[in-house]
Amino acid sequence: MDVHEKYLKFPGEVPVKWKILGRLLDSRGTFVSGEELGDLLQISRPAIWKQIQILMREGIPIEAAHRKGYRVPESLDLLRPDQIQASLVTSFLGRAILYTRETGSTNDDAKLLAGESSPDELPEGTVLIADTQSRGKGRLGRSWQSPPGGIFMSIILRPRVSPSRVPALSIVVGFAVASAIKDVLGLFAEVKWPNDVLIAGRKVAGVLCEMRAELDVTSVVVAGIGVNANFDLEVLPPLLRDKTTSLSWELGRPVDRNSLVASVLNTLEPLYMEFLGGGLSRLLPRVEKVLAYTGMPVRIQNTSPGSPEVSEGILEGIDPDGRLILGLPDGSRRYFSAGDLSLRPV
Ligand code: BTN
Repeated sequence: MDVHEKYLKFPGEVPVKWKILGRLLDSRGTFVSGEELGDLLQISRPAIWKQIQILMREGIPIEAAHRKGYRVPESLDLLRPDQIQASLVTSFLGRAILYTRETGSTNDDAKLLAGESSPDELPEGTVLIADTQSRGKGRLGRSWQSPPGGIFMSIILRPRVSPSRVPALSIVVGFAVASAIKDVLGLFAEVKWPNDVLIAGRKVAGVLCEMRAELDVTSVVVAGIGVNANFDLEVLPPLLRDKTTSLSWELGRPVDRNSLVASVLNTLEPLYMEFLGGGLSRLLPRVEKVLAYTGMPVRIQNTSPGSPEVSEGILEGIDPDGRLILGLPDGSRRYFSAGDLSLRPV
C-alpha cells in the first residue's frame, strides 16, 4: 500500500471507524450501545455496524452483543495519537503524527516521505508511528523485532548541522528515551553507547538515526526509536531473550505507551534545541551520569567485514563529538566513532 494512504494524520480528518474505535477504547471492557455511537457520530445504527465490521475485518477484537452494543477487551492496547498530542508540551515535536497499525519500517517510510516532500509538507518534528512493523531495522544491518505492544516511531528532524554531528545527535535521542522511561515509570534506564537503552544490563530500546545529506549539510535525519514496551520476552527469538527486556516484563504490568511516547517527545525537544545550540558538550555531564559501563572494562569490536578488530580497555566516557573514550592498558586513550562498532562489557 502507498505510504500516503497507509498513515492516518493527526490532527486531521479522522475516519468514522477510528472515531468509533476511540470511543470503544475510552470504555475498554464495557459495552457502548449502538445508539450512543450513532448519536455521537450522527449516523444510523446500521452505518455503525458497517464500520464495526470493517474494524473487525482489520483484526480489532470487538465483541458485539445483542441489546448491549459493542466492546473491546480491557487489555486491548493500541496507540492513540490524539492522546499523545493531548499530553504534549512541545512546540514542534509530535505536532504532526502519522499513524498506522502496521508497516514494514517507520524509518523506511519516513525516508521515503522525506525524499518526496518539502519541509512545508513534512515539517520538522513530524512523527511516524506504528503498532507493529514487519521489517523493522536495527543498527549494523540487523533486524529489529517489532511485535504488537512495542513502540516503533520515527521522528523527522531537519538539523542544519554537518553530517559528522549526527552520531552525537543519536546519543541525545537515546538519552531522551532513557530519561522518559525513568520519569514516567520510575525505572532506572542507562544509555549504552552508541544507541541502546538498557535496564539492569538488558536492552529495552534502540535508536537508529538515518540521514539525507547534501554537500556538508544534513537535510533530514530520521530518528528511529524502538521500545520494547508491552510484550512478553517469549515472543522474541530465543537467542535474544537473555540480552533483552521489556518494560512490562520489568514492571509486571503493561505500561501506557501513549504517555511514554509523549514523554519521549517532551523530553527530547529541549535537549535537541540545546544540541543545535552548543553540540553535545553541555549535555555530556547529564548523559554520562547514565552511561552504561562507565569505569568498567569493555571490549569494542569492529563488525565491518574484512577488518575484525577488537580493543579492550576501560570505558572513560564520551567526547563532545559523541566518540567513545577508551582508556587502554598502556595509559593512552583511544576514541571510537559509532560506525560499525559493537560494545560489550568484559
Ligand atoms: C538498534 O538498536 O539496533 C536500533 C533499533 C531501532 C528500531 C526502530 S523501530 C522504529 C524505527 N523503524 C525501524 O525500522 N527501526 C527503527
